[in-house]
Amino acid sequence: MSGYGLNEFLAETQTVIAQAGEPADCVEAVAPLLHRLINGSRDFLKPEHFQSKPDCYARNAIHVDADGGFSLYSLVWLPGQWTPIHDHGTWGVVGVVQGVLEERNLIRVDPDQTRDTGIDLRRGGPILLGEGTVTTFVPNPDHIHKTGVPEDREQTVSLHLYGRAMNSFHVYDVTEGTRERIDVFHNES
Ligand SMILES: [Fe+2]
Repeated sequence: MSGYGLNEFLAETQTVIAQAGEPADCVEAVAPLLHRLINGSRDFLKPEHFQSKPDCYARNAIHVDADGGFSLYSLVWLPGQWTPIHDHGTWGVVGVVQGVLEERNLIRVDPDQTRDTGIDLRRGGPILLGEGTVTTFVPNPDHIHKTGVPEDREQTVSLHLYGRAMNSFHVYDVTEGTRERIDVFHNES
């Protein structure tokens, strides 16, 4: 037992976010906290946080802050399940508790990054995150990526903390050069 559980993590996260100025400050402060949490006892993770879905990765709420300040989810990825290409419009911190999570990044190179059309995306390299590791992102500019697990790897479970209640994000169509705001739902309801 590490003595560092979900309640301690949430309280410290609340404090450091309140003190942080910009998104990069938030992720610098929260990343070591999430690293400590996922490398501790993890007894806060219950069976409902490991729920998977056959057709799509599953998003299970762990904590959604009452004032919408931040939210924490477990995502469960079966082999072959991927997100679409997306951004989050906010900062985030991701930690892996089981398996290997792969993130494939894209770089937007057209000059006006606020437009929903005329989007020119170039492929960047992948990142493979093993158990106990943490990554972060900030919207400076939008962090555009797809995340998932290839067919030949095992089920993966990751914790995702976002700088707001995560109820919508942009999904990109590389061929059309467009993006669209999509509402997402999790397994609370
Ligand atoms: Fe993402």
